[in-house]
Amino acid sequence: MLLTNAKLVTLKTDEEFGFIADGAIVLDGEHIAWVGEASELPKTYGDQKIHNLGGRLVTPALIDCHTHVVFGGNRAVEFELRLKGASYEEVAKAGGGIVSTVTATRAASEDALLTDALTRVDAMIAEGVTFIEVKSGYGLDCETELKMLRVARQIANARPIEVRTSFLGAHAVPSEYIGDADAYIDDVCIPTLRVAHAEGLVDAVDGFCEGIAFDTAQIARVFVVAKELGLPVKLHSEQLSNIGGTKLAAKYGALSADHVEYATNSDAKALAVAGTVAVVLPGAYYTLRECQAPPIQAFRDHGVRMALATDCNPGSSPLTSALLTMNMACTLFRMTPLEALLGMTAHAARALGELNRGRIIADAPADLCVWDVEHPAELSYRIGFNPLHSRIFKGTL
Ligand code: NIG
Ligand code: FE
Repeated sequence: MLLTNAKLVTLKTDEEFGFIADGAIVLDGEHIAWVGEASELPKTYGDQKIHNLGGRLVTPALIDCHTHVVFGGNRAVEFELRLKGASYEEVAKAGGGIVSTVTATRAASEDALLTDALTRVDAMIAEGVTFIEVKSGYGLDCETELKMLRVARQIANARPIEVRTSFLGAHAVPSEYIGDADAYIDDVCIPTLRVAHAEGLVDAVDGFCEGIAFDTAQIARVFVVAKELGLPVKLHSEQLSNIGGTKLAAKYGALSADHVEYATNSDAKALAVAGTVAVVLPGAYYTLRECQAPPIQAFRDHGVRMALATDCNPGSSPLTSALLTMNMACTLFRMTPLEALLGMTAHAARALGELNRGRIIADAPADLCVWDVEHPAELSYRIGFNPLHSRIFKGTL
């Protein structure tokens, strides 16, 4: 297929949008074969099936690199409690929070979890997302963690979207292990990781390093097993306080350190040295009415690549909009529209271990968005508006 009459935002480098005013793209099956000025299109491509994009703007398709879209129930009542003054930590300590979603997720059938997750995935697709990461972590027992991961895999069969799974057994201490997080890690989390990996259900290993979850020593034990199994790691770190998770993630060469509101300048330096992506999650910051923004300028100064994600989950970020996430990153964290777009494309791909994706370049997957906008900054600037004209996934419109 030959796409013509397109205004391209290639994101060929991290420094600029990479505009091509009158561009053309040749798709060969699932990949981009050629991209450039229409006037320079090699004659060999002339007899392709032509698709005229009417001068519309084309970007790489959006990538949501941190989601918890598979879960049972919802936490609207907890939302009310927090509005009345309870903090996220207080709700968690009182048996609400993640643990209440665990109860609902354990009770739900695989079919029900999938049906529910697809309503959220459909909202993502409608805004041009073609690739998502999905975490487990609301099972916290072997059976339910495996159930969640199977549902995550099924999403890619049910919809035109690519899915990467992260095993998040170290998400919270379940009620049956309260007061004995170490035993949970040894008796449940690590054995479950081994089983899930053996069943081919795990693409990466994640954890929640926080006062209300697991400390660095506990997370390190999980990471050691991940490395032994040859799995990449990532970590929820420094979301509510600084307890060293970001440096731990860097030490293990993590793909990403996520949230990172309380990360310091030296954490940013460690991420830069390790090549770990900082995944910024403005939906959680907004929902929890946090006041400490992540150290964006330190990330810039040290050359840490920043990705963005919805963190779609029932507690801290009931958000399915990639575009609103980009808007929030700009308005709340003063990221630039270019940084926001890179964060939802090329840098999100990197946070999933994919270095050749999220840009319009030859050999990259043919995942593209066609927008009814004039300039890419409009994607971050508008609120609650979806200008997606069409979405191309693996070369198919
Ligand atoms: O990314 N921080 C830990 N995990 C999720 C929240 C999960 C929940 O509250 O259900 C997050 O914000
Ligand atoms: Fe999360």
